[in-house]
Amino acid sequence: MKNFTKEVLFSKDAILGRVKGLAEDIRRDYYGKDLLLIGVLNGVFMFFSDLVKYLDMPVKVDFVRLASYGSGAKSSGDVRVLKGIEMSVTGRDVLVVEDIVDTGYTVDVLIKMIKAKNANSIKVCALIDKAERRMVDVPIDYTGFAVEKGFVVGYGLDYDEQFRYFQEIYTLHETGV
Ligand code: PRP
Repeated sequence: MKNFTKEVLFSKDAILGRVKGLAEDIRRDYYGKDLLLIGVLNGVFMFFSDLVKYLDMPVKVDFVRLASYGSGAKSSGDVRVLKGIEMSVTGRDVLVVEDIVDTGYTVDVLIKMIKAKNANSIKVCALIDKAERRMVDVPIDYTGFAVEKGFVVGYGLDYDEQFRYFQEIYTLHETGV
């Protein structure tokens, strides 16, 4: 089992303040429209819930679960659908909601899936846009925080299924075995 030290990157207040800001932007852009939010499980669960609460307007929600395969921690871009879209997206305004965009493979595949179903519009909202490992140039229309590099956990984000329950976001530093 590896040991880690963690350092607060975004406090609970900073996160909620930013989520509220994102919700205001999204409400302004979509008010009165037939908005479908598609969250990417599992990491998105806390962000998605707070975003919908702050949006405070009628929206429909759906979730997908995608898995990216590669060697070790390195994603190959081989993204498989473990749980697909269930709601009808045809003619709807769709907002993909991600906790983090890293290589960009997941969002890229999801945008292609939604486009194939003839949505009226597709945009992406990511709490964290992490540029360090980006492999595909994906459009992010609403960004919570831009993070250059580092391993981030908490507020839904995990390391090996740990740390999702934290209300803050931390940077993780490995200290050895
Ligand atoms: C993470 C994250 C995004 C995806 C982003 O999910 O939640 O969905 O990776 O990575 P990418 O830009 O490199 O494709 P993960 O597959 O780790 O599953 P999880 O959400 O269950 O933690």
